[in-house]
Amino acid sequence: MTTQFSAVDIDLTLNRYPAKQASNLQAWDAADEHLLKHLVEHKLADVRTAIINDSFGALSTALLKYQPSRAITIETDAKTSQLGTLHNFECNGINATGVQWCNSRELLPASTQLVLMKLPKNLNYFAHQLDRLSQTLPQGTQVLIGAKAKSINKSLLAVIAKHLGQASASLAWKKTRVISCISDGVKRPLPSESRWTVPEYQLTLSNLSNVFAANKLDIGARIMLENMPAGDFKSVIDLGCGNGVLGLRAKQRYPDAQIHFVDDSEMAIASAQQNWQLNGHKIDDACDDSVSFNWDDCLTHLDAKIIPDLVLCNPPFHQGEAITDHIAWQMFLDAYHRLDNGGILHVVGNRHLAYHVKLKRIFHNCTTVAANGKFVILQAQKRANTAPMTDNTVPSH
Ligand SMILES: C[S@@+](CC[C@H](N)C(=O)[O-])C[C@H]1O[C@@H](n2cnc3c(N)ncnc32)[C@H](O)[C@@H]1O
Repeated sequence: MTTQFSAVDIDLTLNRYPAKQASNLQAWDAADEHLLKHLVEHKLADVRTAIINDSFGALSTALLKYQPSRAITIETDAKTSQLGTLHNFECNGINATGVQWCNSRELLPASTQLVLMKLPKNLNYFAHQLDRLSQTLPQGTQVLIGAKAKSINKSLLAVIAKHLGQASASLAWKKTRVISCISDGVKRPLPSESRWTVPEYQLTLSNLSNVFAANKLDIGARIMLENMPAGDFKSVIDLGCGNGVLGLRAKQRYPDAQIHFVDDSEMAIASAQQNWQLNGHKIDDACDDSVSFNWDDCLTHLDAKIIPDLVLCNPPFHQGEAITDHIAWQMFLDAYHRLDNGGILHVVGNRHLAYHVKLKRIFHNCTTVAANGKFVILQAQKRANTAPMTDNTVPSH
């Protein structure tokens, strides 16, 4: 992985998160450099700045290196983005004590005077972000959006005008452009969640805009629902839960089990929590250990008291725009380390992803429970006296 960043006289070491991934990807792109170049060339004032969708903190780290006194707020939906940014601050000697953090549902501070933003892949989420900005930004606030030139067209500028204010794009540089938008001061209502049902299982699901499977059940999730393992499970983790559909089904199948929902996306966790209640379950109080909702990178910070006997997992095979299997690796390793002896990891994946190879390496066993043309359901059991992999390094393969 290339880690040496150098743009507009700012030199940094920047890692993706987690840093130890077998990948030749880097932690920033040309649109980050373009945004910084724009900021420096236009001598934009040292005002309270919000930074949005900064994958691994390249913009935030560079900005604080360039102007340590700048007050910044960082908005992110991804826990891995927050952890990556903190890691990059530390590697580059940035004092982050004054940095304010917002998740993807909170409003930015009213004192925000400039916004730097990267265009996310999900344009419904982007429109939602603009609506949310429209609720806080006073008329005349500048919002700069960095993106690949090929992603910018008239209809994108129209979306920005509709949801926040008039926008225009710069000339292209390194195949990227910076869109300048001036907020018009008109508050837009936030979009309502999408809501749909899975009638076969009497489930109602509601998805916020950045949650996987926006309008219908994922096909991988569907085969998981059809092939839930038999057993009297007591503690189930829905790892990478999205809207929580697998955990909700687990509660139907194993009514006495504690269910723990985990996802990198804060909106996913909020949707899972809403769906828990929407499907007739209660969230009693902070001491209630029958259910938990965890905004986390895999099982990194999960309460040590949680020792699951079943982990359900429909892993992602990309991180942002990058196709990668390191998250699946980490999910399988974390599941192995957390499972009780005899506990089961139940996984669905595209057949071509060959998850059985990974599971055999970690668990020393793997059974195919079901398969169709495209997907397989695999099960691995944690057995006592098998030698676990000893560290959390994602193996290069
Ligand atoms: C393929 S979706 C599955 C969602 C849901 N379980 C389903 O079956 O419809 C994968 C999920 O993993 C989440 N995810 C991605 N990276 C993660 C990470 N590092 N830790 C936890 N969850 C992650 C994504 O946000 C997404 O919700």
